[in-house]
Parts: sequence; C-alpha cells; structure tokens
Amino acid sequence: MNNRRHVHAVAWHSEQLVLLDQRKLPVEEVYVICQTLNDAIEAIKNMTVRGAPAIGIAAAYAAVLCVKENLKMINQGERNTLQTAIYDDLALLQAARPTAVNLAWAIEKALDVVRDPDIPLVDLPHQLLMLAETIHKADIQNNQLMAKLACDYIEECTVVPFSMMTHCNAGSLATGGYGTALGVARLAWQRSLIDKVYANETRPWLQGSRLTAWELQYENIPVSLNVDSAAAWLMSNRNIKWIVVGADRIAANGDVANKIGTFQLAIVAKYHDVKVMVVAPSSTVDLTIESGDLIDIEMRDGSELTHYQEHLIAPAGVEAINPVFDVTPAHLIDVIVTEKGIVEQPTHEKMLWTLS
Ligand code: MRU
Repeated sequence: MNNRRHVHAVAWHSEQLVLLDQRKLPVEEVYVICQTLNDAIEAIKNMTVRGAPAIGIAAAYAAVLCVKENLKMINQGERNTLQTAIYDDLALLQAARPTAVNLAWAIEKALDVVRDPDIPLVDLPHQLLMLAETIHKADIQNNQLMAKLACDYIEECTVVPFSMMTHCNAGSLATGGYGTALGVARLAWQRSLIDKVYANETRPWLQGSRLTAWELQYENIPVSLNVDSAAAWLMSNRNIKWIVVGADRIAANGDVANKIGTFQLAIVAKYHDVKVMVVAPSSTVDLTIESGDLIDIEMRDGSELTHYQEHLIAPAGVEAINPVFDVTPAHLIDVIVTEKGIVEQPTHEKMLWTLS
C-alpha cells in the first residue's frame, strides 16, 4: 500500500511561492523559490511550473508578490498610481504563457481585489493571499468532484475493467494537487474500473514519460509508457476504451486546446470507436471565445526538438517548428467534464447551459 503523500507542484511558505521544479523530474525532486514577481514570471515561462490550473494558482500567489513590491515603491496614498503599476506588472505575468486561460482567469480575479475601493491598500497582500488560497483549495475540490462525475459516467456506459490512455500530464503536478485526467485515473483505479493507464510520452517536453508515468508510479497505479506514435497500434491491439485528457482552454462551442498531439489522438480514437473525455475545471472554459480558431497557440523554441537537455539530437541548424498545443474540434469529443457538470457531444448551446 502506498502511503506517500500526493505531490504538490505549488505551495506558499514564509511569504514565498515555492514550486516543485518540473524540469528536473523524475530524476531530482527539487524546489524553486520565487521571492519576486519576476521570479514567478520566469518560472512559468521556463516551465518550472506547468499545466493550466497549476499556472493559474501560481499566478494568484505571484499577484501577492507583485502587490507587495509595488506597495514598497509607491506612496500609499496614491491608489491610482499603484493600480496602474500593478496592471502593467500583471500584464507581463499574463503574457508568460498565452494558451492556458487559467493564467488570465486568476489574474482577473486578483485585479478585482486590487480594484475594490473598500479594501485599504495595506490590506491588499493579505486579501490577495486569501484569494490565492481559496483558488488553490477550490481547484483540488473541483478535481475530486470531476473525478466522481467522470467515473460515474464511465461506469454507466463502459464494460469494466478497461484501459485508459492519457496524453501530457494532467495530474497533481498540473493542478492544485489531485489532477483532472489523472484524478479520473486515480478514482477509476480505486473503483476497479481500469486495469492500467497508457501514458503517451508527449514529445517534445516529455510530460507523459517524465511526469505522468512518475506520478502514477508514485500512486501505485499500473502505468505503461508508449511513444506518441504507438497510440493507433495500441488502440487496435489493447483494451483501450477511453482517452482522458485535460485542457488548456475550452472555447464556447466546445473546441478544446490541449497539448500538441491531442487532436490527432482524437481522430485516431474516432477510427477505433474509442471515446474521448476532456476533464477541466470551469476556470479553463473561455466563453468569450466562440471557437477554437480564436485560441492563441503558443509556439516554443525549436531547441526543444533539436536538443535533449544540452545534447543535440538533430542536424545543427535545422529549422524546427514547435507549436505546443493544438485544437481538437468539439465534434471529436464525446464528453467534457467540469465541476459544473457533464456536457455530452459538446455544442455551443450545451456549453452555455452547463457553464454560464
Ligand atoms: O505545456 P504544458 O505542460 O503546460 O501543457 C499542459 C497540458 O497541455 C495539460 O494537458 C493541460 O494544461 C491540462 S493540466 C490539468
């Protein structure tokens, strides 16, 4: 029986933001301490912390650092000057990663606090810390609720036990501490609905092999690692009934931006009559965006493809294109699960009905 604690990617200790360095896993379990807003921006950009909900939670704590820094520099009587400085700083934080909407969502919540004329300026750090803690706690509770909704749904319509496949890492490491897709895996395993999880390695950053396989092993849940391009073969030859993934942004029509490769996985799943489930908190749903075409897709440096750590694994100087997310059209998704409920065969109307 595994009695180790769940891993936590984000924490607040002694007035500092503490992040489990996901660049170093699974080899080393080390923590990065962010004492300034710039430290937090850098940690989000360089993927010390990653995964849409975890980025949002880290940003909420980073807003505390931001306000403290500005309060030190600005005369406390100057509310407008302070607000302008905070807007500018939080805009830099928001630009750190463009696709995961949880970042913008958390910053907007922090700005609501900053704008509240009833909160004295000196109380802002405390109020923002309470907000961050509330967001963090709610994320864990929402993940647990989504896991229950998802497992109840799966149990109704699937012959068990079956195997599930997941892509990227949507576990404790990517959230407040339980997981969206891996939260479903956790509960499905407890309820004997699944016999194993197939983890796509998730090129180029290897979230699947470095993080998902590590997290599932840590929890004693059977996991088998495969290269991304083995997905179709595995769906033909193994008892995979569900693809369960997280999301970085879900448009109002149910199109889903998630880790690059999710789109092709959904196409392959359709061919094999394997169902696709997207599990994400409502903070990942962006009802201001009509369809996935309008989602800004982050392009990262080509060196993530041409190098493994510092080792060159491609011809020197070759051009490498590195979009790190793609958009799966709603018609390829069977179910979207949020804490507000389940949307089957998502459409604009159904999304609005459940989420607004
Ligand atoms: O580039 P990453 O590692 O931040 O991408 C993460 C993903 O694509 C996850 O699937 C998504 O954020 C959901 S995490 C619960």
